[in-house]
Amino acid sequence: MSKSTREYHEEDSDSTQLVRWFRSAAPYIHLFKNKLFVISVSKKNFSPDNLIRFIQDLSFLRAIGVQIILVFDPKDLFDEQLKKRNHVLVWKGETPIIDDIATECLQVAIGMMRINLESLFSTKLPNTAMNFSDIKIISGNFVTAKPLGIHKGINFLKTGELRKIDIVAINRALELDAIVLIPPLGFSATGEPFFLNNEQLAKDAACIMKAHKLIFITDVLEKSSESFSEIQELTTETYKDRKLFIKEKFPRLSKLFELANSACEDTIDRAHILPYEKDGEILLELFTRRGIGIMVSQSQIKNIRPAAPDDISSILSLIEPFRKDGTLTNRDQNDIERNLADYIVLDHDGQICGCACLNHYLEENLGEISCLIVRSDYQQKGEGTRMLKHLSEKAKNTGIATIFALTTTAEHWFLENGFVKDKESILPAEKIQTIERNRNSLILTKNIE
Ligand code: ARG
Repeated sequence: MSKSTREYHEEDSDSTQLVRWFRSAAPYIHLFKNKLFVISVSKKNFSPDNLIRFIQDLSFLRAIGVQIILVFDPKDLFDEQLKKRNHVLVWKGETPIIDDIATECLQVAIGMMRINLESLFSTKLPNTAMNFSDIKIISGNFVTAKPLGIHKGINFLKTGELRKIDIVAINRALELDAIVLIPPLGFSATGEPFFLNNEQLAKDAACIMKAHKLIFITDVLEKSSESFSEIQELTTETYKDRKLFIKEKFPRLSKLFELANSACEDTIDRAHILPYEKDGEILLELFTRRGIGIMVSQSQIKNIRPAAPDDISSILSLIEPFRKDGTLTNRDQNDIERNLADYIVLDHDGQICGCACLNHYLEENLGEISCLIVRSDYQQKGEGTRMLKHLSEKAKNTGIATIFALTTTAEHWFLENGFVKDKESILPAEKIQTIERNRNSLILTKNIE
């Protein structure tokens, strides 16, 4: 390949990647339009650079039509103020007791944070993602709170509890295309401020406002991120089994999990817990199927389900490379359309990443597993085995006693999955007639009774 051709290809692959990224993100862009996200940020070690990037990402979300309520806790500024005043905050378990000095410190911190955020959202510098942006940020007395009161003799002073959220007023602000900023406080009927737990407030606001998503941006992940892959994707159902494990292994995360889970048990479809010193965390989580953080959802995001007519073109494109290199026999659109009821697909958030087919030979009561494909980026994760199990179950329920498969390249995979090598004579008569002998396929069978 000449140099110039290679360069051309390299350039091409960059733009191809960009186009591919846009296309794979497009379903999410459609889906998120006009949806409400409640985003909670507990800002402790948020570096100034990362805060700027985060604000830019939020304004991008706003630009594509996402409505945003930002529940922002300026923990770092609060700590700074406490230090300045030489004041030590008293905690009872996980709840701080906000006394008069702490109240003053919080008021200063929240005021500073608000000005800081307003100024960041007002940036329009060229060469930044904020060029041309014109995002308004609205904050106000949207939250009514009451004192937590006296428990077991301890007066929690200005630490409060949520009483009411003004849905109508917040909706009006959102309709103005503004981002609604809610600090972790609410006012009582007497006009006093009471301070609330940021994450709890975000969860309550998300449920009350019937948000589409609840997102926690937290520093808690960093320290424990080495093994959170095991809990990256949970449903409210699987959370029940992992709860103890999470409590033991990720004690600092367990409260966020509880909130995410209870939000999903309520009205929220998906709740996310994201690490914040990761550049672009929110974009990577929202616009890729795998995400980078933790997600608790009402239902499985990856599903094996019967194929539907809309899946046919995806099935064809899964088959295509294997048909080309001769691994799979030829099947055309008509063929798939006619036998669609025999197909299952692996659906990852609307994208088809695998398929398989079970063909029932009624006379001999045998089932053939064919067309079992997992897209290359989904391989080595047990997805093929899951689809095989799904089809074996389906075969069993139809009363099939033995399943078989013909393969040229996946012998070992089938053996690992309990198949044994067999001879041609076990095949249904109809299959023997249509077998493509030049392929020299191996025959494997498995008893599933
Ligand atoms: N982008 C999708 C969403 O925002 C899926 C994210 C998956 N995230 C995960 N941590 N597993 O709903």
